[in-house]
Amino acid sequence: MQRHLISAADLTRDDAVLILDTAEEMARVADRPIKKLPTLRGRTIVNLFFEDSTRTRISFEAAEKRLSADVINFTAKGSSVSKGESLKDTAQTLEAMGVDAVVIRHGASGAPYRLANSGWIDAAVINAGDGTHQHPTQALLDAFTMRRRLVGRDAGLGRDLAGKHITIVGDILHSRVARSNVDLLHTLGAEVTLVAPPTLLPVGIETWPCEVSYDLDATLPKSDAVMMLRVQRERMNAAFFPTEREYSRRYGLDGDRMARMPEGSIVMHPGPMVRGMEITAEVADSDRCTAIEQVANGVSIRMAVLYLLLGGNEPAVTHTRTEEK
Ligand code: NCD
Repeated sequence: MQRHLISAADLTRDDAVLILDTAEEMARVADRPIKKLPTLRGRTIVNLFFEDSTRTRISFEAAEKRLSADVINFTAKGSSVSKGESLKDTAQTLEAMGVDAVVIRHGASGAPYRLANSGWIDAAVINAGDGTHQHPTQALLDAFTMRRRLVGRDAGLGRDLAGKHITIVGDILHSRVARSNVDLLHTLGAEVTLVAPPTLLPVGIETWPCEVSYDLDATLPKSDAVMMLRVQRERMNAAFFPTEREYSRRYGLDGDRMARMPEGSIVMHPGPMVRGMEITAEVADSDRCTAIEQVANGVSIRMAVLYLLLGGNEPAVTHTRTEEK
């Protein structure tokens, strides 16, 4: 595995399955009364968030604390300095403090790559979302959720998602979640279909390893998982569809549409959800929707990534005899 985690496309099948299997181990720690491992004691991790985040930031922090790392949170929004310069200055400050890993979210696509390859710092860099580019730990927690739900929790170890049909719906154009998921799901052997209005699909989509459809109703009956995406207005500078009502009618998931999905299939959402827009409250609150489960799984995945990038060769989890039985 590489020293940094910048893009889901950098992960081989074996890397990805190792992370998913390690996350299963980490998830067992969450079931204990004391949810803490000494693995990263004495290591310092900085969370560098230049863009808004609820789930991702809290989840990384929980993962770092559960592994006993020292955590520094840096939230920088709206710097007036040019992005390259401010990033370099910040990086050099972090380097001077001797950090072991930097978790970075940035509005500019490519910022984590720049940080990792600039020579400014020695630390491992983990991308927590950069512009419209990548969000690899989100794709990993989504794959973890799908493997548990669609392949089976116990049968899951060592397994990928071969032959599963995954549909990703909505604002693909602005979505780093969609890009990361297409890369990782392809690596794990799943068949991906993207559904969106033509205006919300990026140029060059035909080179992505997936199918494209404009017809949600035709795609639902053959989907094992349907991932709904938020329309990212903060990244839009023009009108991409006539009205919200029109968008919801064609690309939103409501109870009637969900009823057309196969038995045992799931509805996913990375959050934040805009209820009434891409998903109705009925669907969001149904048993099929894994949004909350995805958040819980995010902590296990981030523990696994941090452990594998920083933890060296020590075993992550030592199980007591009763747990092993
Ligand atoms: C997403 C993101 O920030 O890329 N959310 C997340 O990380 N859970 C998707 C979004 O903002 O809609």
